[in-house]
Amino acid sequence: MFGHFCFCVSVKLSCFEMARIQINFFIIIFISFVLTHTLSAVRDVFSAVLPHTVTALTDSCVLIPCTFNINTFEEKLQNTTQIYGIWLKKTSRFAGDKSLVVFNSSQNIIQGFRHIEMIGNLTERNCSTVFYNIMMKHSDPYYFRIEMEPNVFRATFNTNPYDASDSSKTVKINVTDSPKPPELMSSHNLCKYVMEGTAVNLNCSAEAPCPKQPPTLSWTNIPKSANIITQLQEKPDKTHSVFSSMTFNASYMDHKMNISCTATYPRNILNNITVISTVMLNISFPPKETYFIIEPSASVTVGTNVTFTCKSKASPSNDMTYTWYKRGQKTPLAQEKKMSFIVTHNNTGWYFCTAMNKHGNQSSKEIQLFITGSFKAVIYGCIGGLLALLVISAVFYYMRTKTLSQTNTRRKDQTADKNEDMPEIYYNNSIEINMKSILSEKETDDVHYEEIDFYKPHTKHINKKNPETEYAEIQRKRQINSVQKQEELYSQVKIK
Ligand SMILES: *[C@@H]1O[C@H](CO)[C@@H](O)[C@H](O)[C@H]1NC(C)=O
Ligand SMILES: *[C@@H]1O[C@H](CO)[C@@H](O)[C@H](O)[C@H]1NC(C)=O
Ligand SMILES: *[C@@H]1O[C@H](CO)[C@@H](O)[C@H](O)[C@H]1NC(C)=O
Ligand SMILES: *[C@@H]1O[C@H](CO)[C@@H](O)[C@H](O)[C@H]1NC(C)=O
Ligand SMILES: *[C@@H]1O[C@H](CO)[C@@H](O)[C@H](O)[C@H]1NC(C)=O
Ligand SMILES: *[C@@H]1O[C@H](CO)[C@@H](O)[C@H](O)[C@H]1NC(C)=O
Repeated sequence: MFGHFCFCVSVKLSCFEMARIQINFFIIIFISFVLTHTLSAVRDVFSAVLPHTVTALTDSCVLIPCTFNINTFEEKLQNTTQIYGIWLKKTSRFAGDKSLVVFNSSQNIIQGFRHIEMIGNLTERNCSTVFYNIMMKHSDPYYFRIEMEPNVFRATFNTNPYDASDSSKTVKINVTDSPKPPELMSSHNLCKYVMEGTAVNLNCSAEAPCPKQPPTLSWTNIPKSANIITQLQEKPDKTHSVFSSMTFNASYMDHKMNISCTATYPRNILNNITVISTVMLNISFPPKETYFIIEPSASVTVGTNVTFTCKSKASPSNDMTYTWYKRGQKTPLAQEKKMSFIVTHNNTGWYFCTAMNKHGNQSSKEIQLFITGSFKAVIYGCIGGLLALLVISAVFYYMRTKTLSQTNTRRKDQTADKNEDMPEIYYNNSIEINMKSILSEKETDDVHYEEIDFYKPHTKHINKKNPETEYAEIQRKRQINSVQKQEELYSQVKIK
């Protein structure tokens, strides 16, 4: 947006003003008065190029890029000893009112500002100026005036000499506490989907009204493949901006990612100001990370209601289809995200699901469904085992008492078959084993009993010696021992 100021001095001389970027209209001004100090300067034409508005941040500075043109400027310069650049505020109608002068480069007169610096070289038609320590009260239209002394040329640059209050074509300084968020633009329309693998470019630009203290730009959620270039740029209207360009390869992992560009404006005394712009990436891609879960578990008992749930990431995901397969079977089992069934023995095997959207499909890994023994069976088994144990113990107890009484009463004729003592419980191997152990216990029992009872004659010979002999031997040993001891004692006494 340019204010291209044009002023025509001679009567009925028409001139046009044109904005280079968007403004595609012409303003034709017919001038009816003379603004000149010399009759000879009938054809003095002059114009200045300034931005229409600049937005300045409080406690920062603002650069007004400014160039001007005056016909036969070089010629005029030769007659000039002093050239003053002057900034007036509020009106272009100077009329000698010194209170309107905010800056006069002659003696560096500054009014209402802490500091103003004309950085442009006036002899090169450059009137660029920096206003420092901007405050809210500085929001005003400003007019550039040039004075070439002695009496060569004096003029205030304005477009509309009829209406001095028309500031539409002069520079307006807008002071703000909150700068505009950075402008974030993409090479692709991010409202639509960008196919995975496409190179995407995001441009972030933040105005830099004070190029000496430009904002810093930073990105968040930077995609892995991103390449970032940041630089200070001059816009067509010669104001500055910080520009950062990020290029990346769209990945499915960046889908729905909110990428932000943050501009941080430094200030002198006040805190830095941060403004953020965010875009959300919409990336389309075929199914990724496809897997499934089995609930309650992949190891189930017959009769369990199992649910298989297929999961996958895809974009778009609204038209996703899921298909279930069992290894070795070509026909799909189901065409839903979830598949439930009551487990029977023939459900064991390997399963997988396939997710599909309009960009492609992906299969999950296979998972094996196991069938384990039923819980009921385990419980019944336990109860059965316990009952069997109880029965066996009872039988054993009964047999033992019975055997005891039998041995007492039938000791002499104990050639009787053992079968008599055995309970009729041969229905199970484990019980047979138990019976064997019962038998061996019974035998030792008998031996024990017989040892106590060894005077009595017996007919049962199970693994034993003659107890009488044994007894005799012990007796003899004891006798020998006592004799020996006595002898020793005796001998000891004797020696004494
Ligand atoms: C600028 O300063 C010069 C020198 O002091 C003076 O002659 C001139 O009138 C001033 N111009 C304005 C517009 O104040
Ligand atoms: C005006 O001067 C400033 C400061 O020297 C410079 O940065 C800028 O480029 C100049 N403008 C033009 C149009 O030459
Ligand atoms: C983006 O990445 C994919 C996979 O890494 C690759 O095949 C593709 O060529 C890349 N595209 C660009 C534009 O770099
Ligand atoms: C991005 O922002 C949108 C809307 O604010 C939100 O719905 C979405 O979940 C965000 N994305 C992430 C990855 O946080
Ligand atoms: C199995 O569970 C699923 C989900 O909990 C349910 O929708 C389905 O009706 C159940 N099936 C049977 C036979 O109970
Ligand atoms: C599983 O076995 C039953 C009968 O035992 C049969 O009716 C059914 O079709 C079998 N299912 C499969 C998937 O083989």
